[in-house]
Amino acid sequence: MAIKKIRYSVLLFLFLYTTSYGQRYAIMGALDQEINLLVENLQKKEKSQKGGIDFFTGELVGVPVVICKVGVGKVNAAYSTAVLTQNFDLKGLIFTGVAGGLHPEALPGDMVIGEAVLQYDLGRIDSSGHFTVWPFRKITGGNFTDLAIPADKYLLELAQKAANKVVFKAVAGRKPMVFTGIIGTSDLFVSNTEKARWIFTEFGAIATEMEGAAVGHVCRSIGLPFIVLRSCSDNANNQAQLNFSQFVGPAASNSSQLVLGMLQEIRK
Ligand code: ADE
Repeated sequence: MAIKKIRYSVLLFLFLYTTSYGQRYAIMGALDQEINLLVENLQKKEKSQKGGIDFFTGELVGVPVVICKVGVGKVNAAYSTAVLTQNFDLKGLIFTGVAGGLHPEALPGDMVIGEAVLQYDLGRIDSSGHFTVWPFRKITGGNFTDLAIPADKYLLELAQKAANKVVFKAVAGRKPMVFTGIIGTSDLFVSNTEKARWIFTEFGAIATEMEGAAVGHVCRSIGLPFIVLRSCSDNANNQAQLNFSQFVGPAASNSSQLVLGMLQEIRK
C-alpha cells in the first residue's frame, strides 16, 4: 500500500512538472531588434548558453518562456531550433520578427500571421534556367507532399484573437493592418520587385523572410506546435534595403506586441 502511494506521488509530481512547471513557450527572433523588447520585459530573467546560443528564461506577462536569437537564414534557424528543442521542455514555439510584404496591401508596419510557412528556394534548376521547387525532404528519406507546413491551430487562433486587441504602432503615419496567410522563406533578402511578384503569384505567400519554414520544418519533425508572426519592414521590392533600415525597429516592435498579446491570452 505504502509503495503504491509513493508510486502515485511520483507520477503526480512528474505529471505536474512536465505539464505546468517544466514547460515553457519558446520565443525566437533572428535579429537583436526582433527580441530586445521581449528580453527587456522578462521577469525572473536568467541567461544561459548552449551550443553557442544565448537563452533567456523567465516570465513574460506571467507565462514561463525561453527567448533566443537564432541568427539570419535557414541554416542558423534550423540549428538553433534543434539546440533549443533538445535543451528545453517546450509547450510551443512562437517566431517573431520582420518580413518583406508581398501582398500589394501589406505595407511597412502591417502584421502577417503565418497560417503556414513554405520554403521556395529548394529545388532543381534545369539547363534552360527553369526552376522547379521541391517540398521539404524527410530526414529519413522521401519527401513531404505539400510545400506548406501549417501552423498549430491553437496558436493561430490565439494570434488572431490577440491581434484584435493589440494596439499596434502606426508606421509612416498609417494604422497597421493584420493579414493571415502563407509566409514564404528562402535564404534571400529579396530586394527585387520582379522576384517579389513571382513569390506572391507562384506560391500565394503574402510575406517573405529567411527563417520561418526552417523552424517550422524542425518543429514538425518533432511534433512541437509552432507559429510564425512577422511585421512588414519593407515590400521586398527595389527599395527594400532602404525601407528595411527605416522600418525594422517599429515593425519588430509590432510583432513583439503581438507575442505579448498572445501570452496574455494564454495566461487567461
Ligand atoms: N526580412 C525583412 N525584409 C525582408 C526581405 N525583403 N526579404 C527577406 N527577408 C526579409
